[in-house]
Amino acid sequence: MDVFAHRGASGNYPENTIAAFNEAARLPVFGVEFDVHMTADGELVVIHDESIDRTSNGTGYVKDLSLAELRKYDFGSWFSSDFQGEMIPTLADVLDVFEFTNHKLNIELKSDIFPYVGMVEKVLALITERQIASRVIISSFDHAAIESVKLYHPEIETAALFMEVIVHPLDYIRRIPADALHIFFPAAIRPSIAEVINSGMPVRTFTVNDVTHANILKQAGVQAIFTDYPEKMLTFLDSI
Ligand code: G3P
Ligand code: MG
Repeated sequence: MDVFAHRGASGNYPENTIAAFNEAARLPVFGVEFDVHMTADGELVVIHDESIDRTSNGTGYVKDLSLAELRKYDFGSWFSSDFQGEMIPTLADVLDVFEFTNHKLNIELKSDIFPYVGMVEKVLALITERQIASRVIISSFDHAAIESVKLYHPEIETAALFMEVIVHPLDYIRRIPADALHIFFPAAIRPSIAEVINSGMPVRTFTVNDVTHANILKQAGVQAIFTDYPEKMLTFLDSI
């Protein structure tokens, strides 16, 4: 079972910052996952929430702030004073960290709350410019966004994200269409998901920080987990 560093190595470093990504880049994990939003001036930035309140010393929605405004805030100190001065990274900044590694790059499009018109096209243009289509998985809770990705770039792997228990998931996912299912832990071990696994479609599960849960998912045939503690999970999975 493969391991993705969730929001970088976010258990021990502030999530979605260059510090968290540098740590993930150092580790022999299969991949890294991060979340993309769009600023008021149309720049792509990597942050989990729609607002900067929880993970910075500022307030407001990403969609209402320019990149220059966002860069004035500290995205490290909320986690620990050791990370004072971490700035919000752009998507390009994060891709730079992994330029010379082999990590799979799971770009999560956070357009499920605010639609961020034009974000899909900008993300795809950057992927094309960097020639990294084969290294990328684009996922979203906004299934319309991943439908668009497939229309423009059928060669890019996509994944539909779900929090809930789903019935007949294969019918729905093939209809979008998407290539893989990324699903929240408790819902991942329902019988309907075994159908997806048995069909050969990749199923990957978030967020798995407990080794007991990792073991259950491995037995179930889940292809990969997203974890905030990638080093701990690598050690555990090597031991079983
Ligand atoms: O992409 C997997 C996972 O990150 C989805 O949930 O809320 O952590 O972005 P969230
Ligand atoms: Mg995410």
